[in-house]
Amino acid sequence: MSSHSGVDLTVDLCGVHLPNPVILASGILGTEAALMERVGRGGAGAVTSKSCSSQPRAGHPNPTVIKWGPGFLNAVGLANPGVEAQVEILRETRRRLADTDVAIIGSIFAETVDGFARVAETLSSAEPDLLEVNISCPNVAHEFGAPFASAPETAAAVTRAVKAATDIPVIVKLSPNVTDIAIIARAVEDAGADAIAAINTVSGMVIDIEAARPVLSNREGGISGPAIKPIAVRSVYRCYEAVSIPIIGIGGVSSGADAIEMIMAGASAVGVGSAVFWGGVGTLGQIAREMAEFMADHGYERVSDMVGLAHRPPALFSDPE
Ligand SMILES: Cc1cc2nc3c(=O)[nH]c(=O)nc-3n(C[C@H](O)[C@H](O)[C@H](O)COP(=O)(O)O)c2cc1C
Repeated sequence: MSSHSGVDLTVDLCGVHLPNPVILASGILGTEAALMERVGRGGAGAVTSKSCSSQPRAGHPNPTVIKWGPGFLNAVGLANPGVEAQVEILRETRRRLADTDVAIIGSIFAETVDGFARVAETLSSAEPDLLEVNISCPNVAHEFGAPFASAPETAAAVTRAVKAATDIPVIVKLSPNVTDIAIIARAVEDAGADAIAAINTVSGMVIDIEAARPVLSNREGGISGPAIKPIAVRSVYRCYEAVSIPIIGIGGVSSGADAIEMIMAGASAVGVGSAVFWGGVGTLGQIAREMAEFMADHGYERVSDMVGLAHRPPALFSDPE
């Protein structure tokens, strides 16, 4: 129970207990156990580690992240220490958060379908509560040329391979850079996904007109932060109509009101990334407190009371007579 009487922020995500539905998104402070501990102790319901690959990756040369208008543009290129090191980071995170009920989500990435299965198997030895499968990074190469999240067949192939490689519940993270995200959502549900995370970053570019060249070394990157919130809300809304597995809504959430909006679109939990850059490690706890205040003010007792509420048919106009 939160301190707001009558409000219960806890959620059950694929059988995993979360003290509240606010989750640290992958790639944001999930690079080190000490940082994940601070975000957890700052009031997060769960923390997601940086996506890891079979081998260490250096990522792209700088500049890799720029502040742009109401958000960020990044092409980090999935710099990570590799899955063996990540197993140790997750174990250390578990030790540090052992006296809390903050859940731990391990995120994986690979360039091939078989690679996803191998990384999933290795990372599972660290026993994260949930495994997130990043098939949607727009800034790296893949065996089919485009991210696996670009087509239902490739998204489903990765999902099936990962499900066969682990007993841990699997979240598949989708891309907004597709014609119809609902088709991809249905394909990964049919392939056995336990949950969906939507969305990863939105592809974009910023050009320095003095230098007459793109600002990022990778030229294009992914937009995150408040700029993409309506895209994320719409994506969650569409996925909710297409699947019955839970959805983690990610993209531009920086307040309790944003999180509630995502939940009313159909999310069972909410991911927060960019907002941490300006709000610090306590951002997620602050968002959870603001959610509890809203719920108390509006008479919602549980998070599940609000999931998908925006899908109700429009109220009929009452007869003025
Ligand atoms: C610098 C940076 C690094 C990221 N790295 C990852 C990553 O490793 N794996 C992943 O699944 N998503 C990654 N993301 C995407 C975020 O998890 C999230 O989906 C996206 O930023 C939208 O949420 P936000 O608007 O709250 O930041 C990254 C985003 C940023 C800004």
